[in-house]
Amino acid sequence: MFRSQESTIEALKERILQLKKSLNAVIVAHNYQRPEVQDIADFVGDSLELARQCTQVDADVIVFCGVHFMAESAAILNPERTVLLSEADAGCPMADMISEDDIREWKERYPDAAVVCYVNSSARVKAQSDICCTSANGVKVVESLPNHEVLFIPDQHLGHYISAKTEKRMILYPGFCIVHQRVDPRHIRFARELYPDAVVLVHPECSAEVIAQADAALSTSQMFRYAKASAKETFLIGTEEGILHRMRRENPDKAFHLLTTGLLCREMKKTTLESVVRTMEERRNIVQVPEEVRVKAKLALDRMLEVS
Ligand code: 13P
Ligand code: SF4
Repeated sequence: MFRSQESTIEALKERILQLKKSLNAVIVAHNYQRPEVQDIADFVGDSLELARQCTQVDADVIVFCGVHFMAESAAILNPERTVLLSEADAGCPMADMISEDDIREWKERYPDAAVVCYVNSSARVKAQSDICCTSANGVKVVESLPNHEVLFIPDQHLGHYISAKTEKRMILYPGFCIVHQRVDPRHIRFARELYPDAVVLVHPECSAEVIAQADAALSTSQMFRYAKASAKETFLIGTEEGILHRMRRENPDKAFHLLTTGLLCREMKKTTLESVVRTMEERRNIVQVPEEVRVKAKLALDRMLEVS
């Protein structure tokens, strides 16, 4: 890195520290954020950890470095705090694959099914659901329900992964993640030839064929815990590349490789240090959820937090 770049980064970090004090703000970031953004955050985690963390912060403002549905969950859980999304148009294409009308239609088709909603969804969709889940707690959430039939939205792959671990009859909405769908079972076969002793960890948003070839399917933070606890030295990772930053920092003696190129979520990468400064300086990108939607969506999130 050039000296001038380094001093710009230092100046931005310094400004963020000042702004945190003046706004009485905390900064939370998802594991897929850019390394320099993760480094200025007070807390970095997976969707479940971030949702939990946001219920425990002692601050007036939460600056959320991630995508819209994550900041929306923070706003749903914290009506008394101001939630700012680091980049106004950072969204999740999977969350956009299901609308309020779609879910109404699917509920009419399956009136006896409990609706389990992956947190990668809008507040309006959550508000139509019985309970939320993340990639870290999906099996527990589904198992906690009295219903035998479960309508799982919007990620078909996470839904399929859960369905293999429960006796429930699961109906899967056909959403998917455009990043994780890039991973192919051939990538695993090829990578294992190159690194025969490696452990293959993939995200449950990958296809069933990919999960079947992996050693474990885990949420992003579960991957950190797995890698730390494992005696193995090499890990082949099937999730967004942002995860490598912490993986390598926390395990300097271990090697981490992505299963394939192009595992990059453009939406997650929209946030930069500059955008964090702008967002905080202008107190912009306030995430607001209409109260009648917020209350219903909160019920679904609270039920999830109780179960996990
Ligand atoms: P995690 O909850 O496992 O961090 O995943 C969030 C996500 O968006 C995966 O694509
Ligand atoms: Fe959405 Fe996939 Fe990006 Fe996660 S990685 S935020 S599911 S598009």
